[in-house]
Amino acid sequence: MKVTLLGSSGTIGRAVLRELRRAGHVISTPDRHTLTALDLAGEDAVISCLASRTGTPKDAWFVDHDLNAGALKAAQSAGVSTFILLSAICVQKPRLAFQHAKLAFEEKLTQSGLSYSIIRPTAYFKSISGQADRLREGKPFLTFGNGTLTACKPISDEDLATYIVSALSDPAMQNKILPIGGPGPALTAREQGELLAEALGVTFRTRSVPPGFLKVIATVLSAVGLREKAALARIGHYYATESMLLWDGMKYDADATPEFGSDTLQAHYQALARGEVVDDREGHAVF
Ligand SMILES: NC(=O)c1ccc[n+]([C@@H]2O[C@H](COP(=O)([O-])OP(=O)(O)OC[C@H]3O[C@@H](n4cnc5c(N)ncnc54)[C@H](OP(=O)(O)O)[C@@H]3O)[C@@H](O)[C@H]2O)c1
Repeated sequence: MKVTLLGSSGTIGRAVLRELRRAGHVISTPDRHTLTALDLAGEDAVISCLASRTGTPKDAWFVDHDLNAGALKAAQSAGVSTFILLSAICVQKPRLAFQHAKLAFEEKLTQSGLSYSIIRPTAYFKSISGQADRLREGKPFLTFGNGTLTACKPISDEDLATYIVSALSDPAMQNKILPIGGPGPALTAREQGELLAEALGVTFRTRSVPPGFLKVIATVLSAVGLREKAALARIGHYYATESMLLWDGMKYDADATPEFGSDTLQAHYQALARGEVVDDREGHAVF
């Protein structure tokens, strides 16, 4: 198929690009310029892995909503039949600006008349590997509360990319919102820390931070006018207290959270410990 991939320089975008190449598709990867119908003439599908690098309100509305909406409009004008969107599972319980921006675009996409797949992954490996250096330096693993407040089914970049690209040809994935995690079972933050310590060959010690601490920081930053930094603290609080699992309206349901792929966090941590992979969180300060 002829596929235009947006956000091909990002973590998941790069993995999707590799998978599209492997599957033999013809790929265009426009960089940071406004898409027009001319750019998309003759294309079969658009895959958007665009994402705000900060998650702050202004950037999120511009990237997660406006840029995607512009691409959708161009796709409609050019007669592209399929639009696949990388979203996030956390939009199911929206409290933050970037979640509202994503949801607003999801709504536009479902109403667009194009065939769509909205992919809402759980946590990426890179986002739960941030304490490797702390542990290597002999410091304790930081947990919010006792480390069991939240859990997730992490998914690797490669497994997620395979899943995204399969939406191009799998009718069962079309016109659907698709929450997706990696292979189970769900892991609490504490269990993730234990796996990391084991992989690095260090003793597992924890230091507990009350999650309310981040709320206090957000309030203080907001009061002194540092709105963007306050927004980051609020994002931090959200991830300290909410699981990246399917929300059934009353509780997070690990068993009901769909699983895909075969890469495990344990194997990733072991590869990280051997120096075979690095986690590049680039501009992501919090998530
Ligand atoms: N981290 C997690 O655990 C997790 C879990 C589930 C879902 N998610 C969702 O996944 C997404 C993050 O994916 P990722 O880590 O692959 O993102 P990423 O590495 O930050 O990549 C973002 C992409 O968007 C592009 N972009 C950003 N701002 C732009 C702008 N102003 N104009 C044009 N392009 C722009 C970037 O291009 P440049 O290279 O030019 O900046 C890059 O290609 C977010 O939506 C997040 O909510 C994350």
